[in-house]
Amino acid sequence: MKLQPSVQVCTVLLFIIGKSTLIQSSGLGRCPNYPSMPKFNITRFLGKWYEVERSFYLPEIASGCTTLTFENTTRNNPEDKFQLEIVVKTVNRWTGNPSVSICEAFTENDKSSIMSVQLKSTLPSAIARFLPGSGQYQVLYTNFENFAILWSCSSFLAVHTDQIWLLGRERDYPAETRKKIYSALTQLSLDPERLFISKNDNCLI
Ligand SMILES: *[C@@H]1O[C@H](CO)[C@@H](O)[C@H](O)[C@H]1NC(C)=O
Ligand SMILES: *[C@@H]1O[C@H](CO)[C@@H](O)[C@H](O)[C@H]1NC(C)=O
Repeated sequence: MKLQPSVQVCTVLLFIIGKSTLIQSSGLGRCPNYPSMPKFNITRFLGKWYEVERSFYLPEIASGCTTLTFENTTRNNPEDKFQLEIVVKTVNRWTGNPSVSICEAFTENDKSSIMSVQLKSTLPSAIARFLPGSGQYQVLYTNFENFAILWSCSSFLAVHTDQIWLLGRERDYPAETRKKIYSALTQLSLDPERLFISKNDNCLI
């Protein structure tokens, strides 16, 4: 199986404001501000996650079997930030083509659940910054062992639009885990009705 880097892929993680604004959840005003999750431990969050559910996002409509692997790439960082690499693998359900994309990210420190993510690309960074994939992503809630709620939001002029991904250490959740996650979402004022089950059958990756 050939994995090809592709710019389009970090779409798994990202999104920009565009056509999709109308069908994504959007609202007036700036993005809601969620604090970093208390007791977040990035060491425990690292490793492989499966996308179990996500909010609707047009460019991802054909993608399935999505996995995200978070790795510590911190090396003698003078600013004390925690650097990580996120490898996103996905399969196009219509063509069967797998693809992989790599994002670089950092957090303020190893206790912060807020990540600044940039898609790695061969383009000059001034251009790369405007590509989908670059932006802020936040782990709103996780128990590290079974599930994580990943969220991203951007605002443009007087409106904002956000995306939710539910990640799991396996491709699906037991019913009681799903119930717990949905109740956490409701407490965060995020509507679980926005979520779709990811297409995860017959996955080879
Ligand atoms: C974070 O998790 C790692 C691995 O379980 C553990 O060794 C470390 O002590 C934890 N750090 C904090 C601040 O709790
Ligand atoms: C990340 O990797 C660096 C370099 O190997 C290491 O010093 C640091 O302790 C690691 N941090 C965590 C939180 O795993």
